Amino acid sequence: MGARLTDQVSNQAVSAIVPARAGGSQQLFKPSLEPYAEEEQRALGIDYRASKLSETGKEIAVPHLWHPTIDGWNPTYRDILEPFNFHKFTCPRPPISLGRFNVEAARRCPDVLRMIIKWSGDDSIRLPDELLPLEEELTRLLKYDRYVMGDCWKDFFVHVTIHNALVRAGEALRYPGFHADGLQGGKFKRKLVCEHSYIVTDPHPTVFALQPFFVAHINEDRYNIFKEFDRQVSERTPLYQALCGHAYLIDPYMVHVSPVVPEDCLRTFVRVTVTPTELHMPKNTRNPMFAGQAYPPRIDVREFVSDPDVTLPLDFYGLSASPSLKDVAPRQPRT
Ligand SMILES: [Fe+2]
Repeated sequence: MGARLTDQVSNQAVSAIVPARAGGSQQLFKPSLEPYAEEEQRALGIDYRASKLSETGKEIAVPHLWHPTIDGWNPTYRDILEPFNFHKFTCPRPPISLGRFNVEAARRCPDVLRMIIKWSGDDSIRLPDELLPLEEELTRLLKYDRYVMGDCWKDFFVHVTIHNALVRAGEALRYPGFHADGLQGGKFKRKLVCEHSYIVTDPHPTVFALQPFFVAHINEDRYNIFKEFDRQVSERTPLYQALCGHAYLIDPYMVHVSPVVPEDCLRTFVRVTVTPTELHMPKNTRNPMFAGQAYPPRIDVREFVSDPDVTLPLDFYGLSASPSLKDVAPRQPRT
């Protein structure tokens, strides 16, 4: 049911608001639709080409400068400084736009997956030579991040993902259902301060579901919360699509989906993730400018959780009883 609903929303509502944007991308790298080596295919469900990077590069300081806060009313700025809390999914908020991002620079970089560029305690980042085209953009975002996080920024880790890939019509580049980045499930018995990210997509940007989600009653040890997001979205969910090539600050409470694309396209995705602990995923790209990184194989927690078939009915929250626009405020047809 959840998967069908996701497909439905992705294919109909989402594609309806995503204008086709053919031929807008200059091909500066060599993506391929050929199957990758089998061990590289299971990067938490996302196809990835492993990249080997140089040990040489640049260490770049991220100074603490004053910066005007964009959309300072957004609860994200408070929530990224507090421990993760499932109740906060009831308070939808839009992503925060930080303006245009140099996507062409990202297309000159190799793919990297959750590669660490800043260690806790450092106030600089380390970029191997291959990532230097993004030096200016990454530094700009992290200067902003340092300002909005304040004194604790130095304690955090920073990872970067760059994903340039050809996507076939009817497919999504990344995780295909509604989900949240940085959700702390059963693995985190004591919830940590949230992770947060800066994301950029071009074309067919990420789509956000601006509705309350009620998931605090679900046992996160047993059930896949992402499937419950899918269950609660509906045809009436307000969807907000990011702008092509703009950077957005997102927190774990912004439920979103990578849209199904209406045509074959070259899609670029960049994410800079700021975390209280190092992300230990076996497919992480190793940054040769840091010594001693090892990501041993491990079992994905999603292999042990079930679909949330024991859930409260949506009526409990009034979600399935919500009126339609044509009943409560009928619109006159435009002439
Ligand atoms: Fe995501």
